[in-house]
Amino acid sequence: MDLDFSQLVPHIPYILRGVIVTLQFVSVSLIIGLVLGVLLSIMKISRFTLLKWIADAYTSVFRGTPLILQLSLFYFATPQFGIDITPYQAGVLAFGLNSSAYVSEIIRAGIQAVDKGQTEAAQALGVPYRSMMLKVILPQAFKNILPALFNEFINLTKESAIVSTIAVADLMRRAQIVNAGIFRYFESLLFVGLIYYLLVMGLTIIGRILERRLKRSD
Ligand code: ARG
Repeated sequence: MDLDFSQLVPHIPYILRGVIVTLQFVSVSLIIGLVLGVLLSIMKISRFTLLKWIADAYTSVFRGTPLILQLSLFYFATPQFGIDITPYQAGVLAFGLNSSAYVSEIIRAGIQAVDKGQTEAAQALGVPYRSMMLKVILPQAFKNILPALFNEFINLTKESAIVSTIAVADLMRRAQIVNAGIFRYFESLLFVGLIYYLLVMGLTIIGRILERRLKRSD
């Protein structure tokens, strides 16, 4: 075996700057995914069939096609319509929209798992729909879905590596660039693999802490 990390060492700061890019990319996508996901989930449980149908169709399309295809559509295909988009914008859009499809299902399931008596009690007390959702149902749903949401965050973090295919200078892309420069693959791939693993472990720990905290407030 021919392992030599010495050639990688000068490139470590360059690769590490990718951590910020990856983290920032995932955070922005996550926020888009969460906001849209909440909206879609509310549409899914609405009484209006049209809203339900739109949200279901949305989820079906975004879950039913590969993320890398959606990413390519946003980046490579939009210029045909005269839209000028940067790799970062295309990436955040594709990841945010894709994630919202998954998040909406997680939240919908969480809302429907909240005891029906909660809705009935709120309605009996004359609490308006908006306040009932925001103050009674969603906070309880949130507690139940936390593990599933963190699972989604973890997926997003790992999947973010495919933005390297549209040249966003994330961790993965930087490893590839270094590989091409020093003609060594194993060392840099191992190195970024370790970084991804640490990021996911970080998320796992944050998720556990939050879960424990929420449980204590019961
Ligand atoms: N590899 C899957 C795909 O291409 C992953 C999508 C994951 N998305 C998510 N937000 N969990 O469709």
